[in-house]
Amino acid sequence: MTTVSTSAPGVRPTAFRFRCIGCGNLSDDASQNFRCVNCGDLLEITYPHLKEKVGDLKSTWRQRRVSQAAVDLSGVWRFRELLPALENDDQAITLREGNTPLYELPQCARIAGVPRLLAKHQGMNPTGSFKDAGMTVAATFARRAGFRWVACASTGNTSASMAAYAARGGLRSLVLVPEGKISWSKLSQALDYGAVTCQLRTDFDGCLKLLQELVLRAPVYQLNSINPFRLEGQKTLALELLEQLDWQAPDHIVVPGGNLGNSSAIGKALLEMRDLGLISRLPKLSVIQAEGANALVRTFREAAGKRLISVHAETRATAIQIGNPASWKKAAHILEATEGACEQVTEIEIAQAKAEIGAEGIGCEPASAVTLAGLKKLVEQGFVKPEESVVLVLTGNLLKDPDYIMDFHRGDLFKGTRDESAADALKDMRRPPIVLDATLDAVIQALERAEKT
Ligand code: F0G
Repeated sequence: MTTVSTSAPGVRPTAFRFRCIGCGNLSDDASQNFRCVNCGDLLEITYPHLKEKVGDLKSTWRQRRVSQAAVDLSGVWRFRELLPALENDDQAITLREGNTPLYELPQCARIAGVPRLLAKHQGMNPTGSFKDAGMTVAATFARRAGFRWVACASTGNTSASMAAYAARGGLRSLVLVPEGKISWSKLSQALDYGAVTCQLRTDFDGCLKLLQELVLRAPVYQLNSINPFRLEGQKTLALELLEQLDWQAPDHIVVPGGNLGNSSAIGKALLEMRDLGLISRLPKLSVIQAEGANALVRTFREAAGKRLISVHAETRATAIQIGNPASWKKAAHILEATEGACEQVTEIEIAQAKAEIGAEGIGCEPASAVTLAGLKKLVEQGFVKPEESVVLVLTGNLLKDPDYIMDFHRGDLFKGTRDESAADALKDMRRPPIVLDATLDAVIQALERAEKT
C-alpha cells in the first residue's frame, strides 16, 4: 500500500498571489474580507509560474488514483499542482471529497432533445454538496493562517460543509443562516457537526452583509465563496470532469447560479486547462437561475453584464435564493470568455426537472434541477444544437431537501401560490405515499392500480 503521496516530476510548487479582478493589483496577502485594498473588488488566486514547467500532469493525477495517501485519496488535493501549495501534505483537512460520479441521463437526454446527457453529481460529496471541494482548501488555509474561528453566511450547504471541515480540523465554526429559509436537513448538519448556528431574521444577502462587517471586527476567518481559496478547491470539479471524459471537452457545461462562486470556479479551471494545453477547446459554460432569483439574468438583459441588477429573491429552490450575488463579476467574465448563456426557469419547470432527474434513479436537490430545466430552454432556443454533448452539474444531494419532495408528491408544493393551477400539468409525475390496511388484498389492489398509470 502506498502511503507516500506522489508529485509531478518537473512541476514547481504552486506559488500563488492574489489578484484583484477589478484593478489587477497583485499582492501576497489578502485582507480579512478578501477585497482589494485599492478598489474594494474581489480577489482571485493566480499562479505566476504555472506555465513554466507543467510536467505530465495528466499521468501524475492518474497515478494518484491508486495511492492510499490522504491527499491523493482526496479528489481535490489529487490536483494540487493547480492549487495553492501546502508546506506538507498533512496540513490538508480532508474528508475524501471530490471523486464524484459522472452519470448518464438517457431519459433526460431524450426529454431535453440531446443525444447524450451526463451529470457530474457533486451531491455525492461527504456532506452532500459541491461545497466540500472548496471547503477542504479554504478550511486548510484558515487553520494554516492560525485562525481558531471560521464563519460563513449560507443558504444551508456552505454551513453544513464548513461545520464538518472545521470539526475535522479542530476549528470552531459560526454559521449565519436566514431564519425559516433553509432546509432542516442542512440546518441539522451544521448542528450535528458542532457549529454555533445563528438563524438571523433576514435573508441570505442580509446574512452575508453582516458577515462581511463581522470579519473586520472579530478574529474569524470567512469561508464564503468570496474567499478565493474556496473557488480554487471548487474548480477541481472541472479538472476531475475532464479527466473522466479523457480530456475531450464537452460542448456545454450547465450549472445553477446563486452567489455565482461555483460558475466562476469552474470557468477558471476551464481557462487554466486551456492555457496549459490540457484541453484543446473550451466548453461553453452556461448559468441557470430561478426566475425568482435572477440577478445575473437581469444583469445581462438590462445592463449588458456590466452592472449588477440586484433582486429580492424568492424561490422554493432555497439554495439559490440569493438576490445580490457576490461573485457576479467573475461569473459575467466567465460567461463572456466561454461564450456561455444565462437563462432563468420557473418554479414549475424546476419541479418538473427535479422529478425527471429523480426518475432516472439519480435525484438531486431543487437548485440542481434548474440545470435540466435550463437545458431544455437552451435547446429550444437553438443555443444547444441537437448533436452537441452536454454535462449538467448537479450541486446537491436529493436528501438535502426532503420537504420539497414530500410537498411535490403530495400536491402541496404550489398550493396557495400563483402556480397552483399550472401545477396540474405535473399531476402524473406525483407518487404520494399510500396509506393502506395491512392486508394482502389492499397491497395487491394498489399494485394493480399503479400498473394502469
Ligand atoms: N446549488 C446548490 C445546491 C447550492 O447550495 C448553491 C449555493 C448553488 C447551487 C449555487 O452556487 O452560489 O456558487 O452560485 N449555495 C450557497 C450556500 C449559497 O450557502 O450553501 P453558487
